[in-house]
Amino acid sequence: MERRNFIKTSCKICLLGAFGATAETLSGCGAAYPVFKTAVLDKKISVPLSLFATNSTQFIRPKGWYYDIAVQKVELGLTALLLMCTHQDNQLVINGNKGYSCSLHGSTFNTEGKVLKGPAERALKRYNTAVEGDQLIIFV
Ligand code: FES
Repeated sequence: MERRNFIKTSCKICLLGAFGATAETLSGCGAAYPVFKTAVLDKKISVPLSLFATNSTQFIRPKGWYYDIAVQKVELGLTALLLMCTHQDNQLVINGNKGYSCSLHGSTFNTEGKVLKGPAERALKRYNTAVEGDQLIIFV
């Protein structure tokens, strides 16, 4: 990239930051999927069930956490998986409809969090969930 183009691009990114744009809105700088941002209160995360009306998978970003949680509707209810590779704690990315993959050493996990390909040997961390009224509660 030419120096002039580099400076132009860098300035645009700085301006976006100055006007309140978050990293998620910049391609290549954040998650490549929409996330629901929320806080953790008393070791619980509340997520409106209405989020699942149009999409069976939602990605939750607890405030202050480095990793997202993937919540999916399954036959027996909802599962909540921490998107942290169990090999060396790298953040996972979505692998189409197949599950999640790690860009560091190539581990892959299915949508239930089970290891499909190593070097990871352990399944993804799964959180207990419950439905209370119109909210899904994730116990962290
Ligand atoms: S950290 Fe994910 S495969 Fe190594």
